[in-house]
Amino acid sequence: MSQDTEKKVAAEAAALLVEDGMRVGLGTGSTVAFLLPAIAARKLDIRCVATSVQTEEAARALGLTVESAAEVDRLDLAIDGADQIAPDFWLVKGGGAAQTREKIVAAMADRCVVIADSSKLVPRLHAPIPLELLQFGLQSTLRLLQNVMLRDVPPSPDGNVIADYAGAIGGPDALDTWLSSVPGVVAHGLFQPALVSKVIVGRGKKAEHLTRAF
Ligand code: 5RP
Repeated sequence: MSQDTEKKVAAEAAALLVEDGMRVGLGTGSTVAFLLPAIAARKLDIRCVATSVQTEEAARALGLTVESAAEVDRLDLAIDGADQIAPDFWLVKGGGAAQTREKIVAAMADRCVVIADSSKLVPRLHAPIPLELLQFGLQSTLRLLQNVMLRDVPPSPDGNVIADYAGAIGGPDALDTWLSSVPGVVAHGLFQPALVSKVIVGRGKKAEHLTRAF
């Protein structure tokens, strides 16, 4: 079964979780691209916050109401993709360079649902880990981090540099703490299990609702 079929199946299952009156966070990426029309087709009265300019434009084009994140303090539900999903629900995100806004939106939401094709399930997380870095002091930040490759993409919508950490992961908890402690790191693509309420993965033509393995 193609990855696109699995992405669509997962996205359509997640769209059914959206209810009238909700405030909904919309992630970024090719899986979310299947989510937006599935939500729009339900003709619900909802207000959305988007994690990227691409998602915002696509959502508006489908008739969804998108508000600025600056005006919203919490969301009922966020739905987003992932690059890697470990059995304990640690995630790697940011393949689309949107990890900073995605993490903020996930944290704003009462529930965050991750949607993915089955290739995203991994036994353990591996490099690269996406990074968003401040331009100010960039050379120093790179020296402190080591093992970082700058990504050949435009700056983030917040004007920052997109890069990837290519070093060893070890325990994601320790790496999360260390990356967050380096001055100049705006955000990184490791998402803690506490940010993830549910994972819906497309497997063949079926959507599987996964629970976390501790
Ligand atoms: C963007 C992301 C995406 O959710 C992640 O890269 C998965 O993308 P896709 O659905 O295209 O496989 O984190 O920053």
